[in-house]
Amino acid sequence: MTKIIIANWKMNYSFDEADLWLSEFFKFYGAAYEKVSKHELVLCPPAILLDYIDSELMEDGFQFLEEVAKKDSRSLEDFSAEEINEIVMNQRPIKLGAQDCHYEESGSFTGDVSAKMLKDVGCKYVIIGHSERRSAYLESDAVVTKKISTAIKADLTPILCVGESKASRDAAQHLEFVESQVVNALLGDLSCEKLIIAYEPIWAIGSGITPSVAQIDEVTKAIKKILQEKFAAKFPQVFVLYGGSVSSANSAEILPVCDGLLIGKASLTAEEYIKIASF
Ligand code: PGA
Repeated sequence: MTKIIIANWKMNYSFDEADLWLSEFFKFYGAAYEKVSKHELVLCPPAILLDYIDSELMEDGFQFLEEVAKKDSRSLEDFSAEEINEIVMNQRPIKLGAQDCHYEESGSFTGDVSAKMLKDVGCKYVIIGHSERRSAYLESDAVVTKKISTAIKADLTPILCVGESKASRDAAQHLEFVESQVVNALLGDLSCEKLIIAYEPIWAIGSGITPSVAQIDEVTKAIKKILQEKFAAKFPQVFVLYGGSVSSANSAEILPVCDGLLIGKASLTAEEYIKIASF
């Protein structure tokens, strides 16, 4: 089954390291092609690198387009603009995503980046409501809702992050907590074809500790149930991912109970990322 495997570099890497990562990525991607190419791979680098990585992937996309043209004995002029866009953007081995966007479409927000700008530099996805932003920038559910709304308007697929604290888990309040985060984030007049929800318990992020497979399964099912019961008409296609200390040592046992993974630290090495995606 197709899984969504997202690399979240957070605030790591600049141009040289991105170049190195990409060349390693292509090497290992080629070697593991049969397994990895059936999954949706997504790279979320720092915003400053998006345009650069997009052009690197574009070159690859055009090479692919030439191969398709040769195979079908067509000249490039025979392709419509939509076909070219489909091949170059959608057939690239790894899609681009951003780590955040502003909730307004434009305006006086020094230092911020809008969803439309992200779309213009080749993003298909945007992470929204990551717990690091919720805690460091006090992002409330209301802000998260507004960000999802602007992302959808800009034709980006939102990756909504939810997850409980250690205290909430210890008090066995995790299901209520996660369910309320999901419901509050999706309130209002929102709808989109494809929605991704990443379950990321705060205590598992960057800690080396992961919940048991049964615990991940429990929350994944609870999120799916709530989407089915309350939002089926608005979000027809929902993918529930797991994130928090994922590595190639635990990914194979986690993947069967969810629709994919959101990977932080382990995604900084292309070889490790491809190992995880070789499922
Ligand atoms: P981690 O981060 O894999 O380093 O725990 C995951 C995340 O924060 O998305």
